[in-house]
Amino acid sequence: MDCALPLSIRSLSYSYDGKRKVLSDVDIDIDFGETIGIVGMSGSGKSTLAKFLQQELLAPVGTCFMAGCDISKVSMEALYRNVVYLGHEEYVLEGTVRDCISMGKVIEDKAMIEALTMVKMWSVFEEQAGLDTILRENGSNLSGGQKQRLALARGLLHPGALLILNEATSSIDEESETIIMDYIRSLKGSRSILIISHRMANTENCDRIYVLDEGKLIEHGDRDNLLKNNGIYSSLYREQMAYENFGKGERFENNSSEAV
Ligand SMILES: Nc1ncnc2c1ncn2[C@@H]1O[C@H](COP(=O)(O)OP(=O)(O)O)[C@@H](O)[C@H]1O
Ligand SMILES: [Mg+2]
Repeated sequence: MDCALPLSIRSLSYSYDGKRKVLSDVDIDIDFGETIGIVGMSGSGKSTLAKFLQQELLAPVGTCFMAGCDISKVSMEALYRNVVYLGHEEYVLEGTVRDCISMGKVIEDKAMIEALTMVKMWSVFEEQAGLDTILRENGSNLSGGQKQRLALARGLLHPGALLILNEATSSIDEESETIIMDYIRSLKGSRSILIISHRMANTENCDRIYVLDEGKLIEHGDRDNLLKNNGIYSSLYREQMAYENFGKGERFENNSSEAV
């Protein structure tokens, strides 16, 4: 195991307006090197949860612990060094590819090229000025999927002990998504990974999946057990599969109640 950070969340509740709870008594555990999924419909509270793990929202004392330390006592510097967050709106600053992925750290060209190759972006820059290719403001000369792959390369070069992906492949093409998710699977065990997605298929290989519904954790378990439970996970899973398979030309069936 390289370096993996355990995380535990205890009875976390939250309301933005002091009235409506968007998280209610949430308990989540990520042990050393586990890959954990959080799924749920849009608005179920997934991103709010992720905000606490980056200190974008301050967690009440006694609710979030990283490596046993209350997150309210974890410095921004420690967080920045140890937690890599990949969201769905990746920003790209104007500058060279080198500046973008090294973020001021001295990194050998070879390592940067390796990371770009892994996320299938090197071929894009190689035919331009390589690592000195200029990225325009907000990556306007890159597609959404390319921006996410670039962000992933940056994440690889700044390995953290906890990797959080929040809908990190949501707006990208299937080819990019497969590349990214295969890579994430290859990291399994080497660090703690939290995959947050409204798409059940992205969490299939997780050690444990938590299902959020209107701020409450209503089910958890591995994929096979959740499918056998015939609860919300299994109905969302079947529904999504039906839509995805329909796109591939199959007969549309989303009302199957067979146990898997
Ligand atoms: N900054 C905010 N202010 C007020 N309400 C918010 C804010 N961000 C999210 N919400 C509300 O909190 C609930 C959960 O949102 P969110 O955590 O973004 O869910 P998800 O990521 O699962 O789609 C939603 O009802 C959303 O409208
Ligand atoms: Mg969200």
